[in-house]
Amino acid sequence: MGDPVEHSLSPAMHNAAFRELGMDCAYHPFRVTPGELGDAIKGANALGFGGLNVTVPHKEHTLDFVEADELSLQIGAVNTIDFKDGIKGYNTDGFGAEKALTEKGIPIKDANISIVGAGGAAKSIAFHFSNLGANIDIFNRTPQRAEQLAHVIGGQGHGLDVLVGSLENCDILINTTTVGMHPNVSGSVATREQLHLELAVFDIVYNPLKTKLLQEAEAAGATTIDGVGMLVHQGAESFRIWTGREPPVETMRKAVLEGLACRC
Ligand code: ATR
Repeated sequence: MGDPVEHSLSPAMHNAAFRELGMDCAYHPFRVTPGELGDAIKGANALGFGGLNVTVPHKEHTLDFVEADELSLQIGAVNTIDFKDGIKGYNTDGFGAEKALTEKGIPIKDANISIVGAGGAAKSIAFHFSNLGANIDIFNRTPQRAEQLAHVIGGQGHGLDVLVGSLENCDILINTTTVGMHPNVSGSVATREQLHLELAVFDIVYNPLKTKLLQEAEAAGATTIDGVGMLVHQGAESFRIWTGREPPVETMRKAVLEGLACRC
C-alpha cells in the first residue's frame, strides 16, 4: 500500500518468488490515500490477506493501527504487516541494508559509518546498524535533523558541509538522500578526490543503478554497493515474515533488475 504505488518493483519481485516456490499467492499494489490507511489495513485483515507492505507516505502512520515490534517502534515506522497472529508491524529496511553490505563481505560491527540524510530511510538504517554495534555519524542538509537522529542512536550529528572533512576515518559511506536520483542524476554528495580506496560507498538509490556518487567512488578505487541489494533483501525479509519460507533471493533480484531494465 502506498500513494503513489504504480512504479513499485515489489509486485514483480514477490510474484517471481511465489512462482519459483510454486506458491498459490499473489502480491498486488494498492493505492491507498492517507485518510483511508486504517480502514485499508483492517479491511485487508478481514479479507484474509497474508500480509502487507506499506510504503511512502504511510510508514509512520501505520504505527497507529498495528502491534509494532521493538525495532519498528524505535524507528517510528513500519514497512511490513503480518496478519498471522493479530496485526503485527515490522520494519525490514535496516535488515535489507545490512544484507546488502554483508553479502559483499563488508562488516558492520565496530565500523565507522557516515550516513548522509536524516529522513525515514536514514532512520531505519541508523537504528538497525547502531543495534549491530556500528559507530555512526549522521550528516544532513538540515543539521538539526541530523542532531536529533544522532542523539537517539548515541551518535554524532552534523551539517552536510563537514562530510568531506570526516571521510578519512570513515569505513562505510551511505547515501540515503535523493541526491543523484532520477531525474537529477548529476548530483553527488562527494567527489572522487574526497573518497578513498579503503572506503565502501553504498547508495540506496537504484534509479539509476550506478549513481554519480558510485561513479565517483569507483574512480577513487572504493568498493561500491548499489541500491538493488537493499530493495531485494528488505523484500526477502518481509517474504520470510509472511510465509515462513526461505526467500529465493536471486530470483527476486533478477525480477528487480529486469523491472529496472524495462524502465530505461
Ligand atoms: P526518505 O524517507 O526516503 O528518507 P525523507 O524523509 O523525505 O525521505 O528524507 C529525505 C532526506 O534527503 C533528508 O535528509 C533531506 O534533507 P533535509 O532534512 O535537509 O530535507 C535529504 N535531501 C533531499 N534533497 C536533498 C538535496 N538536494 N541535498 C541534500 N539533501 C537532500
